[in-house]
Amino acid sequence: MRLYVNIDHVATLREARKTSEPDPVRAAVLAELGGAEGITVHLREDRRHIQDRDVRLLMETVRTGVNLEIAVEEEVVAITTELRPFQVTVVPERRDEVTTEGGLSLETEVSRHRVDRAVRRLQNAGIRVALFVDPDPQTVRHAHDLGVEAVEFHTGEYANTGGEARAEELGRLRAAAVLGRELGLAIHAGHGLTYENVIPVAALPEIEELNIGHSIMSRAILVGMERAVREMRELLREAPGRVKEPGGWVPPLGW
Ligand code: PXP
Repeated sequence: MRLYVNIDHVATLREARKTSEPDPVRAAVLAELGGAEGITVHLREDRRHIQDRDVRLLMETVRTGVNLEIAVEEEVVAITTELRPFQVTVVPERRDEVTTEGGLSLETEVSRHRVDRAVRRLQNAGIRVALFVDPDPQTVRHAHDLGVEAVEFHTGEYANTGGEARAEELGRLRAAAVLGRELGLAIHAGHGLTYENVIPVAALPEIEELNIGHSIMSRAILVGMERAVREMRELLREAPGRVKEPGGWVPPLGW
């Protein structure tokens, strides 16, 4: 099982101020030190978080592999064939969505034709291609017919439900994973996976790669918070001209 860590949220925080920090490249290096076997970023059409430059720098820095999520839009497909990341995961994209909302639709011939054209171009550039799809047998067969190397199953439904419904979703994931493997596809999964819900998915033997972002980034903020505040606190104490306080919290006047 390979863990790919999605670091889009690091760029989201940077773009909130349009500055240079936090830097997704540094985040990627730390994620690798923590054991990530790959780094995932989504180059969205509206560039709301990851920028082209980030992908370029990540590709030069990352020691594992970059999995680039893109939609089948001419401009990003063209850039991707030039950048040539190790892997591309093709995702559906809507401008007004907060995050990817579901798997690619491969139901109609028109939709399959669009995906097919992009897949051909990416594979011709030597890129391994995965399609982000719902764990549905017909969709898995369509993905196989498109000649991709892998499918990433959307685990959002699994993650957003509980009890019986979650058990049913897990069953759907298992069945789709078995079918995909039989057809020779590599099986990936992701979306909405957390420290609490990941184990049953990770226990499916057909799944060889997980993509996890939000939960890891959320925890990173919390487990890193204490140290970050302490470092700033200590830095303030070191400011030249300041009478060194004995340490500890000094109440403001009027407290
Ligand atoms: N896989 C795909 C295709 C995604 O679009 C995303 C979100 O960017 C993820 C996995 C990771 O989802 P999450 O941030 O909920 O872990």
